[in-house]
Amino acid sequence: MPSTDAPRIALVPDRAPAWMADAITAGGGHLVPVGEAEALVWGSPTDAGGLATILRDAPGIRWVQLPWAGVEAFVDLIDDDRLWTCGKGVYAEPVAELALTLALAGLRGLGTYARADRWEPPAGSNLTGAQVTVLGGGGITESFLRLLRPFDCHVTVVRNRAQDMEGADVVLESDRLTDALAGADLVVVALALTPDTEGIISASELDLMEPSAWIVNVARGRHIVTADLVAALQQGVIGGAALDVTDPEPLPEGHPLWSLPNCIITPHVGNTPDMARPLLAERITENVKRFAHGEELIGPVDTELGY
Ligand SMILES: NC(=O)c1ccc[n+]([C@@H]2O[C@H](COP(=O)([O-])OP(=O)(O)OC[C@H]3O[C@@H](n4cnc5c(N)ncnc54)[C@H](OP(=O)(O)O)[C@@H]3O)[C@@H](O)[C@H]2O)c1
Repeated sequence: MPSTDAPRIALVPDRAPAWMADAITAGGGHLVPVGEAEALVWGSPTDAGGLATILRDAPGIRWVQLPWAGVEAFVDLIDDDRLWTCGKGVYAEPVAELALTLALAGLRGLGTYARADRWEPPAGSNLTGAQVTVLGGGGITESFLRLLRPFDCHVTVVRNRAQDMEGADVVLESDRLTDALAGADLVVVALALTPDTEGIISASELDLMEPSAWIVNVARGRHIVTADLVAALQQGVIGGAALDVTDPEPLPEGHPLWSLPNCIITPHVGNTPDMARPLLAERITENVKRFAHGEELIGPVDTELGY
């Protein structure tokens, strides 16, 4: 029997997986129907309309936990009437690992070699000692900078609110983006999708990059203007692109990006469901515990900034 002061938490929609219910109870939460709940865990990474409908009739909900790091699908619902938390930073380790994998694969020519049916001429450049620019300074970037340490790179981070980061030589605010792109051998996109960051990389930004530079995107496809990227890859404006996320997504069969030799695509597997499950479960459990004790929750969404 849950104690009488256990927080009353609803898990919705009905199709939310059972492990989320286990994560709530592991944190001391008492699972109740929405009408009796003071907090709600939303178990679907999309379906903002479904959540809107539920919240309309649930004024008692003081806290909503969203499952993903990116909240762009929910941004119209997020207001100051409730506390909102998301999965920001929770998937940082697996996503950073993929960012490093894609960076090395791109710079060392694996896209070409893996597709080849003959002995190709030598190509590729080192990550070791490279100039690396990372867009975004959140959880993924923190983990990525740690993984980058042995490669002795010169690292510039571009983030919304400049503040020092361990592993970064320079941190710039986003109005200095062009300075950060010039001369970079590797650009990693790891920021939140907002109206300000949609299309943050278009033809003019790609033009600033070195002809040998690779861009890695592990955030959202809409950060990069796809048509401009295709043109830049076809014309050799940059060395290549390694994309875990695309616009459109899923990338349709026959899309030009599939057949470009200097493009590597993974199907949004920065964190697979198997990787995500224990990480999100731990976050839910921890936040339910904190909610029960009136403590600050992890991963709050800033209603002004929209991430
Ligand atoms: N590929 C995948 O499977 C996968 C998995 C998880 C997440 N993601 C995506 O990756 C994104 C980042 O994840 P995270 O966990 O690192 O999130 P996070 O901790 O919320 O970090 C978001 C970062 O975006 C930065 N940002 C926002 N607006 C900016 C702007 N105009 N210019 C420069 N930087 C800006 C923020 O800067 P400040 O810190 O200075 O405010 C913050 O550092 C998520 O939003 C999600 O879209 C993808």
